[in-house]
Amino acid sequence: AADVADDLEKVLFSSDQIQARVAEIAALIDADYQGRDVLLVGVLNGAVMVMSDLQRAMHSHVEMDWMAVSSYGSGMQSSGVVRILKDLSVDIEGRDVIVVEDIIDTGLTLSYLMSNLASRGPASLEIMTMFRKPDAAQIDVPVKYVGFEIPNEFVVGYGLDYAGRYRNLRDVGTLAPHVYS
Ligand code: PRP
Ligand code: MN
Ligand code: MG
Repeated sequence: AADVADDLEKVLFSSDQIQARVAEIAALIDADYQGRDVLLVGVLNGAVMVMSDLQRAMHSHVEMDWMAVSSYGSGMQSSGVVRILKDLSVDIEGRDVIVVEDIIDTGLTLSYLMSNLASRGPASLEIMTMFRKPDAAQIDVPVKYVGFEIPNEFVVGYGLDYAGRYRNLRDVGTLAPHVYS
């Protein structure tokens, strides 16, 4: 049977590299939030993998909730149009919130989401993203925890998709041209 990993052209970050970096960030969060219960807010669907790994790498008490905010649709370009498809299940007033993302590309998704969440009165509000593309930024989003900065290339794996696929790859890399041409 065909293996989804065969569609990668180049691996940029191996599973081991990703897990090691997640563990470092988990330790930073543990140290920064001593004695406070952190609420991780994952942005569906991309953040599913990093949400799962980050909280299991943490030692502090931690809770999770989810939002679905889609701007990409099924293509490779950000449309800039942000839609809330699923809102939080809990009230975040007075909570210490960290929004968790797989990637910040243009920044439009998180820019919208952060002002939306800030208006709900959290005690604190920060961002953790596994990947960030500085060269693709259209708006500045202050990010406290960044896994890796990456070049402005289309990458998949570890939650990052192309047309809904490839999220289940443990490595992150570029797609072979035959996949989308
Ligand atoms: C991707 C990614 C981020 C967002 C980043 O999500 O997971 O949420 O785009 O792009 P931006 O910085 O240009 O706004 P997408 O909208 O593709 O939905 P998905 O997580 O379900 O793949
Ligand atoms: Mn996403
Ligand atoms: Mg996507």
